[in-house]
Amino acid sequence: MHYTANTLESHWMPFTNNRDFKANPRLLVKGDGMYYWDHKGGKILDGSSALFCSAAGHCRPEIAEAVYKQLKENDYAPPFQLGHPASFELAQKVIRLTPDGLDHVFFANSGSEAVDTALKIAMAYFRAKGEGQRTRFVSRERAYHGVNIGGTSLSGMVKNREVFSGIMPGVVLMRHTWLEENRFTKGQPEHGAYLADDLERFAQTYGPATIAACFVEPIAGSTGCLPPPKGYLERLRAICDKHGILLVFDEVICGFGRTGKPFAAQAFGVTPDMITMAKALTNGAVPMAAVAVKDDIYSTVVNAAPEGAIELFHGYTYSAHPVACAAGLAALAIYEKEGVFENAAKLAPYFLDKVFSLRDLDIVTDIRGYGLLAGVDIKPGKAPGARGTQIQKDLFWKGLHVKFTGDTGIIAPPLIAKREHVDEIVRIMRETLSAIK
Ligand SMILES: Cc1ncc(COP(=O)(O)O)c(C=O)c1O
Repeated sequence: MHYTANTLESHWMPFTNNRDFKANPRLLVKGDGMYYWDHKGGKILDGSSALFCSAAGHCRPEIAEAVYKQLKENDYAPPFQLGHPASFELAQKVIRLTPDGLDHVFFANSGSEAVDTALKIAMAYFRAKGEGQRTRFVSRERAYHGVNIGGTSLSGMVKNREVFSGIMPGVVLMRHTWLEENRFTKGQPEHGAYLADDLERFAQTYGPATIAACFVEPIAGSTGCLPPPKGYLERLRAICDKHGILLVFDEVICGFGRTGKPFAAQAFGVTPDMITMAKALTNGAVPMAAVAVKDDIYSTVVNAAPEGAIELFHGYTYSAHPVACAAGLAALAIYEKEGVFENAAKLAPYFLDKVFSLRDLDIVTDIRGYGLLAGVDIKPGKAPGARGTQIQKDLFWKGLHVKFTGDTGIIAPPLIAKREHVDEIVRIMRETLSAIK
């Protein structure tokens, strides 16, 4: 097949400049470990774990074999009023990784679905508790919670919202946590814990008993890696406790070792009431997501329903798909056997030092990072985002994949990376950024 604009036109690509891409496509045709290969034969180092998914690297045979075996044995099982063994096993494996108390897992197929599921669980929980007046949700500017109507409503990235007027009412956004005085901070910034008080102000403005839940990414990921200021998450937790508001951590990017711990909740020592997760749950090999919830939430919803009745009227045809479960079980086994999260923790200081070495470039206006996740802000060019888009392309043709959001590069190598991979990422970044006039 020749990859020309004519043959590519049928697929309307997501979050893509379709016209530009189809004129000069960048197709990935093969993956192995830390690398991809493009359709022209070029070898591409993966500097962003694809889209923060491939924690154990690409095309792991253990996952491929587990998926194949599952497909031959039991390719699909309806998840409503029926089940299959792997989903129960995977749920148990997941709760071994989540913080104590988050003991129940609801499966979905994407981060966006996980977020919408968490919204509905919060609504169901408060209805079951007789607090159905809690209909407001709080999130944050610069947040990314996916693209379904719920997640779009919670999101605070302007381009993802401005065209879509029909989003959920009753959502208020706290200020984001990027502060000028924190520029070039490695790890958690010193300043900004006070920004959590926005939640307290909303409680005072709207009435504390009208707010159901506060959603945050512990480290805001897609906007370009904003680690939480010291004390910020603790303060959110305290305000939620004071007013009976649920705290939800969206760990679609942070989960499964990105911070060096299974979840960012453990890295920062703050336990939420729910965690949404996806991406590295299956190492990105098969779409899957999940919401882990505290026992009180599960028990309250389940016990409020009449005996014999379905308790939560929510679920997807592909919730806990057997093939996704097989991939998830195989991925989690690799993480445990190879100490993948521990490798991330060990490599993180070296990774951050190396990435922060780019700060001497004039074009770099800020760098932030935590664990194996870093954001590098580039001085915008003619229009916001134009330079970032060009740099992402230039990097690709030089053999490096880094995901850009606007003018920010988000570096997040697979957690199996070694120092030499980090060196290579930073070398190609420096060479490419230095060439920009
Ligand atoms: C924090 C967060 N939540 C939700 C999502 C949405 O996930 P998906 O694209 O799988 O729907 C993402 C995707 O990057 C994310 O980073």
